[in-house]
Amino acid sequence: MTTETICMRGITKVFATDEMETHALRGIDLDIFAGDFVSICGPSGCGKSTLLSLLGLLDMPSAGSYQIEGHEVSGLSLSEAAYIRNEKIGFIFQSFNLIDELTVFDNIALPLRYRRHALPKAELQERVMACLKTVDMTHRASHRPNQLSGGQQQRIAIARALVGSPALLLVDEPTGNLDSKNGDAVMDMLCELNNNGTTLCMVTHDPRYADMAKQKLHLLDGRILDAESTPDTQSEIRLQQVAVQ
Ligand SMILES: Nc1ncnc2c1ncn2[C@@H]1O[C@H](COP(=O)(O)OP(=O)(O)OP(=O)(O)O)[C@@H](O)[C@H]1O
Ligand SMILES: [Mg+2]
Repeated sequence: MTTETICMRGITKVFATDEMETHALRGIDLDIFAGDFVSICGPSGCGKSTLLSLLGLLDMPSAGSYQIEGHEVSGLSLSEAAYIRNEKIGFIFQSFNLIDELTVFDNIALPLRYRRHALPKAELQERVMACLKTVDMTHRASHRPNQLSGGQQQRIAIARALVGSPALLLVDEPTGNLDSKNGDAVMDMLCELNNNGTTLCMVTHDPRYADMAKQKLHLLDGRILDAESTPDTQSEIRLQQVAVQ
């Protein structure tokens, strides 16, 4: 049976400034299942990054219900949210957000060092090196991010997102700052992670990459326009219907 990792119902987000209110999200219903690959597309300003930051508990909705693995998380305090984020969620941003003062190794180790329960040094070492291996960057462990190419920095950012074994990997324009060759390599890596069971939710402007997802969402003006399923998912549903008949 499929486990539901994410369940959002009627999620809204209003940003209020002195002059105006912006309704960034206007009633989002979204289910993401374990092992899913969701892509989110839509024009600039339609609410994609806002949705991703709510999914990642970087911000709280104005209204609506948000459950992660059956637990309501929409009303959590900042510190409770940070705890869950650190345990369950990995982020990959468009601009890699690596810290140039730290080595590649220490950048990847950072999320583990922020955990409430410190890992023994040997285990931390093992996990960081395993993630570096996944992205084929073990030979750069003691470099600084600013000594790496853009594609390599993005691979380090992927390793950092993976080190905590997140239930959900949130990705905002992972290829936005890369040329097409490096972009394709990063997408191959994300698809492989998904094939190995990681749940992915990715914002992208690139229709080729959006099409790789199992669940494709189109946002417009804070609403989900339509939810398409890839032929694979549709044929699965048809097979299930045939089996029931
Ligand atoms: N902190 C904020 N305060 C006020 N308004 C905000 C804030 N963050 C986002 N908005 C507004 O909410 C709307 C949605 O923004 P969001 O960043 O989610 O768009 P987006 O779809 O990610 O766009 P892009 O493709 O350009 O990254 C926009 O109108 C934006 O101006
Ligand atoms: Mg954005």
